[in-house]
Amino acid sequence: MTRRGLPKILITAGPTREYIDPTRFISNPSSAKMGYLVAHEAKKRGLDVILISGPTLLKPPPVKIHRVISALEMHRAVKKYFRSCDVLVMSAAVSDFRPKTFSKKKIKKDRISLTLSLVRNPDILEWAGKNKKSRVLIGFAAETSAVLHHAALKLKKKNLDLMIANQVNRPGIGFEGEKLQYVMLENEKPSSPLRIAKKADVAKEIVRWILHKIHP
Ligand code: CTP
Repeated sequence: MTRRGLPKILITAGPTREYIDPTRFISNPSSAKMGYLVAHEAKKRGLDVILISGPTLLKPPPVKIHRVISALEMHRAVKKYFRSCDVLVMSAAVSDFRPKTFSKKKIKKDRISLTLSLVRNPDILEWAGKNKKSRVLIGFAAETSAVLHHAALKLKKKNLDLMIANQVNRPGIGFEGEKLQYVMLENEKPSSPLRIAKKADVAKEIVRWILHKIHP
């Protein structure tokens, strides 16, 4: 708990960008909506909120915000605030790979083909799971098939308390959409089938779950 006694919640949101040269990057279609809504709701419900945000044009909620671009920057920011947080909600869509080298000059197209060499980024949530202690950890699994199976494996591997398993390959649902097709998993057995709901309502459900977890 923080000195003021309010539980402190650290939320990551949005995509990361992995720059190839000053004009190009690898990323994903995450809008940051889900994380921003959780941040807004957590603040309304009296939690002390820190939001780490990847690049987005969304209007930020009225909470402390730390902006980052790349996965490595997001990892550094999570490490900075993790020590003092009670809850981590990792809703960011972190790029799993980054280019092995960054070209300071724009790569010109005076060649027929170009091969990019990529290296793995750290898994931030897995790092948090290993250093968890009494913290509550929540992740989002973005899946296109065997949603529950993959989400349950990640829940266990990353040592989480809650995984929001969501299907991301339907138009208008997931990454950029207003809705999520999801189920909340506390263990490998889902409490209900996948359902579709507005992200704002999912944010309320997540914050209700957190409040119940920390003040049963
Ligand atoms: N995550 C993370 N660091 C990464 C990748 C993912 O912290 N480098 C977090 C995400 O924020 C999310 C959870 O791990 O809360 C699951 O992310 P997801 O993209 O679904 O799965 P991955 O673990 O990256 O596995 P894969 O890409 O193989 O499905």
